[in-house]
Amino acid sequence: MRSRYCRQLQRALGFRFPLPTRRPLLFGPHRLMKPLVVFVLGGPGAGKGTQCTRIVEKYGYTHLSAGELLRDERRNPDSQYGELIEKCIREGKIVPVEITISLLKREMDQAMTANVQKNKFLIDGFPRNQDNLQGWNKTMDGKADVSFVLFFDCNNEICTERCLERGKSSGRTDDNRESLEKRIQTYLESTKPIIDLYEEMGKVRKIDASKSVDEVFDAVVKIFDKEG
Ligand code: ADP
Ligand code: C5P
Ligand code: MG
Repeated sequence: MRSRYCRQLQRALGFRFPLPTRRPLLFGPHRLMKPLVVFVLGGPGAGKGTQCTRIVEKYGYTHLSAGELLRDERRNPDSQYGELIEKCIREGKIVPVEITISLLKREMDQAMTANVQKNKFLIDGFPRNQDNLQGWNKTMDGKADVSFVLFFDCNNEICTERCLERGKSSGRTDDNRESLEKRIQTYLESTKPIIDLYEEMGKVRKIDASKSVDEVFDAVVKIFDKEG
């Protein structure tokens, strides 16, 4: 509609000017499908990333790991947030939501601009505290629907052992005992209350994540086959 009007105007004026680009599908007037979101939460090393990879293969979701996006942003030499992100990651603290949500929003928008049918997202490691939750509600209210929260429940000892094992090859600056103690503390103090909040709303699907990868995935499949 708008571009037809522009072309008529171009003809009337007798010269060509650039046509306005389409606004992003997620937030602009051209939005066709609402993103459907599954939040994936659990302690560090609970197996969120491992299971998300399998869910993507079987159910065609787009996997967005907040932690991965922050690590990518930290590596970007043009980013003004690199140092802040690195400090938070090492200390097991949560990065201010404005940064994290802008990265998530960008990825969701890109995915849906590339293929509007791809509207199912696994958002892994978010919302991790009240600030994350408020930022999500402020920015995404009415623009995306949260289907449920997939909660990988795993005790701290197993989580720590898995991360230390991962640390042998991950190159992550936070897969060490000192950072892990802080990450577990942040999980218990800040993330668990968010999971509890969703639990009160009947939105949590809890899985025993201390079992083998295959057994955990069997439980995941039961949930996704039911929830769609
Ligand atoms: P998260 O994303 O929750 O931090 P990951 O999926 O990266 O966790 O898993 C942490 C480490 O534990 C990885 O090295 C992974 O291979 C391993 N792992 C994941 N799930 C299991 C499981 N069910 N049993 C044993 N090891 C696991
Ligand atoms: O989920 P993952 O283990 O990859 O997260 C690594 C770190 O990234 C967290 O310990 C935290 O410092 C940061 N993070 C964050 N906010 C999020 C997710 C991750 O600050 N929502
Ligand atoms: Mg992960």
